[in-house]
Amino acid sequence: METMLRNLFQALGKSHSANRMAKKYGLRFGAARFVAGESIRQAIEAVRKLNEDGRMATLDHLGEFVYSEEEALQSADMCVQTLDAIAQAGVVSNLSLKMTSLGLDSSRELCMRNMRRILDRAREHGNFVRIDMEDYAHCQTSLDIYRELRRDYDNVGIVLQAYLFRTRQDIQDMNGLRANLRLVKGAYKESIEVAYASKKDVDENYKAMIREHMENGNYAAVASHDEAVVSFTKQFAAERGIASDRFEFQMLYGICEEMQKRLVQEGYRVRVYVPYGIDWFGYFMRRLAERPANVWFVLKNLFK
Ligand code: FDA
Repeated sequence: METMLRNLFQALGKSHSANRMAKKYGLRFGAARFVAGESIRQAIEAVRKLNEDGRMATLDHLGEFVYSEEEALQSADMCVQTLDAIAQAGVVSNLSLKMTSLGLDSSRELCMRNMRRILDRAREHGNFVRIDMEDYAHCQTSLDIYRELRRDYDNVGIVLQAYLFRTRQDIQDMNGLRANLRLVKGAYKESIEVAYASKKDVDENYKAMIREHMENGNYAAVASHDEAVVSFTKQFAAERGIASDRFEFQMLYGICEEMQKRLVQEGYRVRVYVPYGIDWFGYFMRRLAERPANVWFVLKNLFK
């Protein structure tokens, strides 16, 4: 049953027509638990609230299935506007983005131009941009683009996923770049040819990645709600004398709030990933696929 629901949510998240329909009808089915709103103003308000108790943020303007140049330029505009809004409001937040929303699927060159424009604006504001990692099909291109950008920008980071076999090698290859990496388990449905299928293998690989990246003196963003991973990171940092400003924990908006607050109280850096925008459906479906138990939450909201 759980696998069936997981597959269903993953398929719905990828469906163009479901995404298109959802855009028209506004945040529904309890998606507001995971998505901060549809406008920049609502997103900035959500960040302000997080900042009040010491949590930092990373804002993500949601955008899926961008193919035309015009849509990609609009997406880049939204990223620039988000950076401006962060600076104007004086809130503590950086920016996360997906390169497919900047035209990666239609033209690498277009995506690159958009990335440079966004990174230039972030640099003007003294801010940082994180490239989210998408499915396996985009992994190599994303890493190549990251390497190219890293030559000119020190305010850009990327994400590596523990479920991929290739990631341990990627971590080693990145070491020379002094890369600021967000390390995650991985959110997409991948084939057993490229990814670990069992939770145990993913978790083991995840810990090995954290160890290797932090041990090499690199900044790590450990993005997980898994108590075991969080405890492992804390203990590893303490044992190796890694200062608490050399890493941060990241969690998603609306998930494990108590743990987020507790970590801040314990003196750790915590950043919350705050998605916003009208294109909320794909993101919402990925959150449901991660935890099909959330379906009860959706059903409750259907009848509200
Ligand atoms: P795990 O799935 O083992 O969950 C541990 C516990 O966390 C669960 O038992 C539950 O209590 C809670 N939990 C987890 N997910 C939940 C949910 N959806 N709803 C309610 N509770 C939940 N992935 C990717 O492929 N590319 C990326 O760029 C990113 N970026 C990213 C940023 C940030 C800040 C986070 C936290 C995560 C990502 N991810 C991601 C997603 C990541 O790959 C992974 O799918 C989720 O974080 C779930 O895995 P956990 O590590 O939380 O552990």
